[in-house]
Amino acid sequence: MGVNRCICRNVPFTQIALVAREVGNDLAKLSEKTGCGTGCGMCLPYVKHMLRTGRTTVPVLSHHEIAELMKGEQVPPK
Ligand code: FES
Repeated sequence: MGVNRCICRNVPFTQIALVAREVGNDLAKLSEKTGCGTGCGMCLPYVKHMLRTGRTTVPVLSHHEIAELMKGEQVPPK
């Protein structure tokens, strides 16, 4: 079992990966283009993990992993 989409906006990571090819891996731009992260924001570390690994299904992350992935990021992206 893993996370494969922004649940709030029902945006699959496969779609976010395609948009990232056009706009790059910037979370704010991806959020603006797809709506991901504009609800609860819980998908953002999973989106970052997906962007780093290329895996569009991400295992459930620990609090530590989430904190590491989100270092320096504004949440929600501005
Ligand atoms: S799961 Fe993406 S904003 Fe809530």
